Parts: sequence; structure tokens; C-alpha cells
Amino acid sequence: MGSASAEMGFARFLLILLLLSLLTTTSTAQSFKCSSPASCSALVGYAPYNATTLSEIQSQFNVKKFHSLLGANNLPLSTPRTYSIKSKQTVKVPIPCICYNNTGVSNKVPIYTVKKDDGLYFIASTVFSGLLKYPQIVVANKIPDKDKIDIGQKLWIPLPCSCDEVSGEKVVHYAHVVEAGSTVEEIAKRFGTDSQTLLSINGMANDSQLMADQSLDVPLKACNSSIKENSLDYSLLVPNGSYAITAGACVKCSCDSPDWTLQCEPSQLNTTISNWGACPSMQCEEVSGSPYIGNTTSLSNCNRSTCAYAGYDNKTIFTSPTTESTCPASPPSGNNSSKIDSNWNFLFICVFTLLLCFYLS
Ligand SMILES: *[C@@H]1O[C@H](CO)[C@@H](O)[C@H](O)[C@H]1NC(C)=O
Ligand SMILES: *[C@@H]1O[C@H](CO)[C@@H](O)[C@H](O)[C@H]1NC(C)=O
Ligand SMILES: *[C@@H]1O[C@H](CO)[C@@H](O)[C@H](O)[C@H]1NC(C)=O
Ligand SMILES: *[C@@H]1O[C@H](CO)[C@@H](O)[C@H](O)[C@H]1NC(C)=O
Ligand SMILES: *[C@@H]1O[C@H](CO)[C@@H](O)[C@H](O)[C@H]1NC(C)=O
Ligand SMILES: *[C@@H]1O[C@H](CO)[C@@H](O)[C@H](O)[C@H]1NC(C)=O
Ligand SMILES: *[C@@H]1O[C@H](CO)[C@@H](O)[C@H](O)[C@H]1NC(C)=O
Ligand SMILES: *[C@@H]1O[C@H](CO)[C@@H](O)[C@H](O)[C@H]1NC(C)=O
Ligand SMILES: *[C@@H]1O[C@H](CO)[C@@H](O)[C@H](O)[C@H]1NC(C)=O
Ligand SMILES: *[C@@H]1O[C@H](CO)[C@@H](O)[C@H](O)[C@H]1NC(C)=O
Ligand SMILES: *[C@@H]1O[C@H](CO)[C@@H](O)[C@H](O)[C@H]1NC(C)=O
Repeated sequence: MGSASAEMGFARFLLILLLLSLLTTTSTAQSFKCSSPASCSALVGYAPYNATTLSEIQSQFNVKKFHSLLGANNLPLSTPRTYSIKSKQTVKVPIPCICYNNTGVSNKVPIYTVKKDDGLYFIASTVFSGLLKYPQIVVANKIPDKDKIDIGQKLWIPLPCSCDEVSGEKVVHYAHVVEAGSTVEEIAKRFGTDSQTLLSINGMANDSQLMADQSLDVPLKACNSSIKENSLDYSLLVPNGSYAITAGACVKCSCDSPDWTLQCEPSQLNTTISNWGACPSMQCEEVSGSPYIGNTTSLSNCNRSTCAYAGYDNKTIFTSPTTESTCPASPPSGNNSSKIDSNWNFLFICVFTLLLCFYLS
């Protein structure tokens, strides 16, 4: 008798614990701050429950261009649509993000069609690998009864994202589902940011507030580019270790150089994929020899010019030559130079002065 009632008591205790944990996961809303009245492109880290293919992921997240999925994961452009993704393998999926009421959500996508035996909890935690919590689907779709969804019903899955600058820099926001046992420091290190930034943009005071299975807003550093303000892809941001296809599929821009400069070149994609039929000129006409976007030409012994991509409009692709000098920049650091033979010192000063005169004239 006594043991039966104790069991009941324990069951009730478990139920209360469960309810409490549900409440806390709901209150620490899995949404990202997004205050700019803006839209942008963001990324989510999707880890499929079952093995799948890139093509299925593309359709599940309504990704418009297959090559944007390839670029986000730095997979070659020749990767087939049937490329397989293992269970629990994380794939970066690009999503359009919109800021609304200080929160960022994926703009009208993905749209999920309810299947037999689906529940909202299953859809959020398993089908979309925990990138959001089910109450967010309830709110976004104004579902009156969370236990009543119909087969064939279409649901908007409001994935968390942001368009905010971080420390005055444009970044690409990545939604990362925290694994059990990770620390803020380790996540920061993995994605090339720092703990303080991660804590602050996620509104956390310290590591102890990091929870397994929460979606963490991770800002990915992006490359600087020479893209002009009047270009149709002015907002193009390519995060470290990835590439993007732009200018009607004519241009491929990668971010993997140590100086954080966007490197663009003709994409070599079939022009049938291009919006233009044929790609317009991609040459820097003003440089002798009219190099192509991405070409580097030597102008002299130590100056070289790179034909950089500068954006596009509906008729042309803009180019801009950037000249950089690789001439020896400065004499060795003052610290030890005094120990160098004075003759050498003299020579260095001469060369340096000469260079300075050249530069000033
Ligand atoms: C905006 O957010 C605030 C606080 O999070 C909330 O009280 C308010 O209802 C929201 N407004 C709309 C229109 O969703
Ligand atoms: C994974 O595959 C199993 C077996 O085919 C299926 O029952 C289950 O619904 C799948 N899970 C997801 C999240 O698609
Ligand atoms: C940039 O990407 C490279 C290669 O993926 C990686 O080695 C490097 O640590 C990354 N840097 C940052 C700051 O994320
Ligand atoms: C972490 O922050 C919480 C809330 O601000 C605070 O109560 C707790 O003492 C902090 N823990 C540590 C280890 O600093
Ligand atoms: C490029 O961006 C980095 C930070 O991402 C910044 O420190 C650097 O000054 C920028 N360089 C140029 C030439 O704008
Ligand atoms: C371009 O199209 C041709 C013929 O359709 C095909 O053989 C080739 O592989 C394509 N190249 C690329 C880069 O997609
Ligand atoms: C210039 O770029 C074009 C197109 O990317 C390439 O085919 C060519 O080899 C490059 N030339 C030089 C000198 O790098
Ligand atoms: C190198 O470039 C600088 C500035 O772009 C220019 O003033 C200088 O004349 C160039 N030097 C040579 C040797 O071409
Ligand atoms: C191209 O852009 C200009 C100005 O931005 C516009 O007037 C023109 O109609 C556009 N042409 C096409 C074909 O879209
Ligand atoms: C010289 O080097 C020492 C240590 O190596 C360093 O503390 C000092 O700041 C340096 N001085 C200058 C002028 O670079
Ligand atoms: C400067 O001199 C010190 C002591 O001679 C030496 O240990 C150090 O490596 C030197 N530094 C450089 C940059 O040459």
C-alpha cells in the first residue's frame, strides 16, 4: 500500500519536474535578438535525425539555389544533388532572415507539411533537429490547440536568426544547437569568436547559463569586399571558410584568405544557369592587358594589381583594380637594429629614405 502511494507521489514529482523543465525551456526563448529593421542572409546548423541527401535538405528548408547550400559548406560546385549526409552530421543551411519586434526569424520559410503521426514537439526537436522549440511554431502559426494539427497542414517553421552587427562589424549569424557537455569557450574557439561576445549577444551572464539543446547565436566573421553600394549584391557577406555565387551565377566569391579579403573569380558555371544568358565582361579594362576578375598582375618589381569584383547591376559586372605594394615596408624593428652592423644600418636608412622620397613625390 505504502509503496504504491509513494510511487504515485514520485510519479507526480516527475510530472512536476517535466512541466517545470518545459516552462523553463519556453521562457528562455530560443529567439535571437535582431534589432536592425532589416533582412539579411543567415545560417542554421542542421543535424538530420536520419541519413539524408543535400537535395532533401534543400527542399526541406526551401533553399532557392542549390549552390548556396554548397557554398555555405564549402563543397565543390560539382557536388551532386544526391550527395549523402550522415545521421547527425551538421550541415550549414542558408536562410533568409527578417527582424521583427526585436527578434530574428526565418522569413516565411521553411514551410513544413504535417505528416501522419507528427506532433509539434517531434517536428521542432527531431525534424528540425532542435533549432527551435515547439511553442515557437504554435505562436508563429497561431495554432489554437497544440495537440491538434492536421495531416497535410502547412506550418511555417520560424528558425532563429539575426541581422545585427557585432562590435560594429557585419557578421553572418549562425544558429548552433548546443551539444551536452560543451562550454562557451570551446564553442567560441570552434567558430572563431570569443566567449565574451557569445555570452553578450545571447544575453547570458556566464557559462552556467549555457544549456544543452539550446540554439546559440554564433556570429561568424565575414570577408571584406570591394562591392559598391549601388550593387544589387551590396549586402553580400561571405563567412570564413565558405563561398558564394553571385552576379547572376557569373561570379564565385570565396572567403579563405588570411587577410579577410573576399576573393572573386568567374564562376565557370554554365551560362544556362546564369540569369543573363551570357555573362557580361568581367575584365578590368583600365589595367594594361585587361585582366579578369581574380587575376593578379605585376605592375613593377614590387607593386601588383588585382582585378577585384565590385558588384553588379542588371546590365554589367563592376570591377575595380586594387593596387598593393609588396615593397619592403620598414627596416627591422628598432629593438635589435642597433646590434646590426652600422654599415647595414646605413644602407637600410638610405633605402628607406629613397623609398620615402619616391612615395612622397
Ligand atoms: C513584441 O514583443 C513584446 C515583448 O517581447 C511583446 O510583449 C509584444 O506582444 C510583441 N508584439 C508583437 C506585435 O508581437
Ligand atoms: C527516420 O526514419 C524512420 C524509419 O524510416 C522513420 O520512421 C522516422 O520518421 C524518420 N525520422 C525523421 C525525423 O524523419
Ligand atoms: C577560418 O577558416 C579556417 C579554415 O576553415 C580556419 O582554419 C580558421 O581558424 C578560421 N578562422 C576564424 C577566425 O574563424
Ligand atoms: C552565473 O550567473 C548567474 C546569474 O547572473 C549567477 O547567479 C551565478 O552566480 C553565476 N555563476 C558563476 C559561476 O559566476
Ligand atoms: C577587414 O575586416 C577586418 C575585420 O573583419 C578588419 O579588422 C579590417 O580592418 C578590414 N580591412 C579592411 C581593409 O577593410
Ligand atoms: C555544363 O553543361 C554541360 C552540358 O550540359 C555539362 O556536360 C557540364 O558538366 C556542365 N558544366 C558544369 C560546370 O556544370
Ligand atoms: C585570369 O583569369 C582567367 C579567368 O579566371 C584565367 O583563365 C586566366 O588563367 C587568368 N590569367 C592569369 C595570368 O592569371
Ligand atoms: C607603386 O604603387 C604606388 C601607389 O599605388 C605608386 O605611387 C608607385 O609609383 C608604384 N611604384 C612603382 C615602382 O610602380
Ligand atoms: C535596369 O536598371 C535600371 C535602373 O536601375 C532600370 O531603369 C531598368 O529598367 C532596368 N532594366 C531591366 C531590364 O531590368
Ligand atoms: C624591445 O623588445 C622588448 C622585449 O623583447 C620589448 O619589451 C620592448 O617593448 C621592445 N622595444 C621596442 C622599441 O620595440
Ligand atoms: C633580438 O635580440 C635578442 C637578444 O640578442 C634575441 O634573443 C632576439 O631573438 C632578437 N629578436 C629579433 C626579432 O631578432
